[in-house]
Amino acid sequence: MLPDFSTYLGSRCQFVDALLDRVIPTGETRPATLHKAMRHSIFAGGKRLRPVLCIAAAEACGSSQEAAGFNACAVECLHTYTLIHDDLPCMDDDDLRRGVPTCHKVYGEGIAVLAGDALQALAFELITRTRATVRHTTGDMVAELARTSGSLHLVGGQVADVEGEGKRLPLEELRFVHESKTAALLTSSIRLGGMAADADEEKMAALGRFGMAAGLAFQIIDDILDVTQTSEKLGKSAGKDFASEKSTYPALIGLEASRDEAHRLTEEAHAALGCFGEAGLHLRQLADYLLARDY
Ligand code: IPE
Ligand code: IPE
Ligand code: MG
Ligand code: MG
Ligand code: MG
Repeated sequence: MLPDFSTYLGSRCQFVDALLDRVIPTGETRPATLHKAMRHSIFAGGKRLRPVLCIAAAEACGSSQEAAGFNACAVECLHTYTLIHDDLPCMDDDDLRRGVPTCHKVYGEGIAVLAGDALQALAFELITRTRATVRHTTGDMVAELARTSGSLHLVGGQVADVEGEGKRLPLEELRFVHESKTAALLTSSIRLGGMAADADEEKMAALGRFGMAAGLAFQIIDDILDVTQTSEKLGKSAGKDFASEKSTYPALIGLEASRDEAHRLTEEAHAALGCFGEAGLHLRQLADYLLARDY
């Protein structure tokens, strides 16, 4: 990682963590168990890719991390809710997440479901705290996240993922699953940065194309890491996709072709940013980071 980019990533993550700490009730706030569970999952670690992408998009559109801060925290809360639910015994049944025991392992299934529910609600409340711009109302921003989180995208993708267990999905169908369960939220994270920065139609469309390409590459890399890395390195259990007979890119087309596809999509993501010129540097670096990461 280039030293400048690593400094950039570190400083944006710090900003996001400090704001998350402010907006999530303390572990002593009633009901304490619930708030402890929410904080357990949020502050266990996590790469903070979605909030940093949100902020980088706002900055690429000439705005600041402060303007996009609540939207950035919103997408991290939404994402963390999906992880808590994804790990439940009725879903992927995982014991380890972000290097620590999963929410339901520590707090029990009931509290884990509710911690996820509360994080999802908090995400929408946070969106409403973002200042509306000339081109984008608060309603537009809420709608952006709501559409992405719902039955046609994220939740729909998780359904297709669960129903696909034990089956060999056609590649076209797997691409749909990955776009829905993962790329959609990455895309909205980026678009919500653009919206907070009053991006015009051309820039919003470019951010959308960038997000879908980088987001699909991101999930392909997630599938690859499940096969090639250890649980210690990932902070979540490796080898789970094979054990659960999931269709993944490596399972369908092999590791080499999966890597090639992730590379091709990353180039596509870069190409989408043409209209940003120099201002798109951090977004381009983030796309490279998603591709090169080893956890
Ligand atoms: C994991 O996402 C879930 C997927 C959509 C593949 P991340 O790899 O971004 O997880 P954290 O936030 O760093 O824990
Ligand atoms: C998770 O996909 C996608 C969502 C949580 C929406 P995975 O099931 O592949 O994520 P990991 O590998 O458990 O992090
Ligand atoms: Mg899953
Ligand atoms: Mg999972
Ligand atoms: Mg995975």
